[in-house]
Amino acid sequence: MPPTLSTPNVSTSEFCLGGCADPAKSELLASLEHSEFRTKFNRSPFKIRHNLTDHRLFTLDALVALSQELPADRVEYNAGDVPVTQDPNRTPQNGLSIAETIERIENCRSWMVLKNVEKHPEYKELLEACLEEVRPFAELASQGMTHQQGFIFISSPGSMTPFHIDPENNFLLQIQGTKEVWMFDQNDREVISEIQIEEFFAGAHRNMPFDESYRGRGAKFDLIAGEGLHFPVVAPHYVHNGPAVSISFSVTFQTEDSADRQSLHRFNRQLRKLGVNPSDVGQNPNADSRKLSFLRMMRKIKRWTNRG
Ligand SMILES: [Fe+2]
Repeated sequence: MPPTLSTPNVSTSEFCLGGCADPAKSELLASLEHSEFRTKFNRSPFKIRHNLTDHRLFTLDALVALSQELPADRVEYNAGDVPVTQDPNRTPQNGLSIAETIERIENCRSWMVLKNVEKHPEYKELLEACLEEVRPFAELASQGMTHQQGFIFISSPGSMTPFHIDPENNFLLQIQGTKEVWMFDQNDREVISEIQIEEFFAGAHRNMPFDESYRGRGAKFDLIAGEGLHFPVVAPHYVHNGPAVSISFSVTFQTEDSADRQSLHRFNRQLRKLGVNPSDVGQNPNADSRKLSFLRMMRKIKRWTNRG
């Protein structure tokens, strides 16, 4: 039986105990705490607080303008009345344009994500400002902060984001409305198998099948505007929006550890194709270390070969 996650009891009075960021210096994220990053970052979910609820870049007008400036393939939207298990090839569309979907979000029962909002200079600046506040805390757990990306989710009341996994370290900042997030342990291989993760990193869709028997293995987090939640890499989750329009800003990045983890999953997939049965990522640290050394050597050889 894998360890089950417990919902932290978060209250404003508990923030900033034991080495918190100075709120006077922290303009965007208000409750980053050293001990939580040391023990939970990219292992377990934990809540933070932020000051972005009234930010001008998250009004519906600003989001309509952003949706029209982003490349078309960076805007994904569909009907929000979907089950927790959703076949990505059969996701129902809502029949509206992108702008119509945002303008009618209160009643059009839809779910939308604006991807890579860092392609827009103002959102890039905001993303980088948030992540600069996260950086000294994240580096307590793992060095490096690369692949900084931002996503904005706009959802109708009651809409569902089906069960899935994501490849990045994520802080989901609730800007408006409420969300119920069901999160599962990133290492629970009875919920998501090693092979499913390998296929995901090889390009398979993020959606995963959910079985009701999993429910007792996860934890529910209720998010309100002004709160944020840390999602460890590949921690499976699904999200049910509350009774109002929901807007969330997802700030994501990779660290050296999470990049190594991706490399190991991809390498294990190659080994399996060769008929080898590799140890699961994280199960045998010595084997992981040898694989990473081998991959680094191969990259060096490739660079030298390309130079020649
Ligand atoms: Fe997600």
